[in-house]
Amino acid sequence: MNHFLDIHTTDKADLRRIIDQARATKEARSGKPKATLDDDQPLKDRMVALIFEKPSTRTRVSFDVGVRQMGGQTMVLSGSDMQLGHGETIADTARVLSRYVDMIMIRTFDESVLHEMAEHATVPVINGLTDRTHPCQIMADILTFEEHRGPIAGKKVVWSGDGNNVCASFLHAAAQFGFDLTFTGPVQLDPEMEFVGLARNAGVEVCIERDAFKAVEGADLIVTDTWVSMHDAQSSRERRHNMLRPYQVNTDLMKAAKPDALFMHCLPAHRGEEATSEVMDGPNSVIFDEAENRLHAQKAIMRWCVEG
Ligand code: CP
Ligand code: NVA
Repeated sequence: MNHFLDIHTTDKADLRRIIDQARATKEARSGKPKATLDDDQPLKDRMVALIFEKPSTRTRVSFDVGVRQMGGQTMVLSGSDMQLGHGETIADTARVLSRYVDMIMIRTFDESVLHEMAEHATVPVINGLTDRTHPCQIMADILTFEEHRGPIAGKKVVWSGDGNNVCASFLHAAAQFGFDLTFTGPVQLDPEMEFVGLARNAGVEVCIERDAFKAVEGADLIVTDTWVSMHDAQSSRERRHNMLRPYQVNTDLMKAAKPDALFMHCLPAHRGEEATSEVMDGPNSVIFDEAENRLHAQKAIMRWCVEG
């Protein structure tokens, strides 16, 4: 049994196997109706709890559909409706749920909740996003990049905007998959230096460049995300917008990268803020492939959780 808590804490060879598995299963299902069961049923007779303490469209639907395609059943739970949201400890919740279900996916605020859940659960626990990381998203993004452009190792990825939870998992992935990452954004919103250090120690180049146009020179991939994440105070909105405006991904910025540079955004997006619709709907954008690949990547993650 494996937990999938973060990219940097998962074995490199396992991460590669998960991506390859995701690609193979996706290809095998190509053109079939969405509710078609996969040929083998790795989650047959298994029950999966999907816990959400924050809103979600992609994570909720892709996990739910993925479990069903693999022969299992799901139960979608809202944190606020559970005793968890009313004082029951995470440890007790983990112990109780482990008596009913075979796997737990949780989207939460503080990552300590995820880690405590994993520590006390006797079934696999998957990180469906915390304030600090979003590993399932980046596994889908690696799959997406490689489908379009081949191996990501040695490529230059540029993150433009807020050095948030999604950016953090990109830094973890840089270390594990061997690509270089340049962060461009205001100093106040730099990614965590611990994660920058982790990637640098793994031997990949991590640059911080305040000038977005300089940053994207030679980029193979430009990524951005919302300027105000779910865990950010709404009162910080105006201040964040003022700081982040120079880092909007628009046609001019895309032109400064390699001509075939891809554009990614985990979605949901605020069109006209962090990225323009021209870029999001443009020829280099792969945002809806990323969304689809959440399904395929997470199915491979769940298989790895139960089969190893
Ligand atoms: N990208 C992502 O995690 O989307 P949701 O918030 O809709 O799940
Ligand atoms: N950074 C965003 C990602 C949403 C999928 C957030 O945490 O709100």
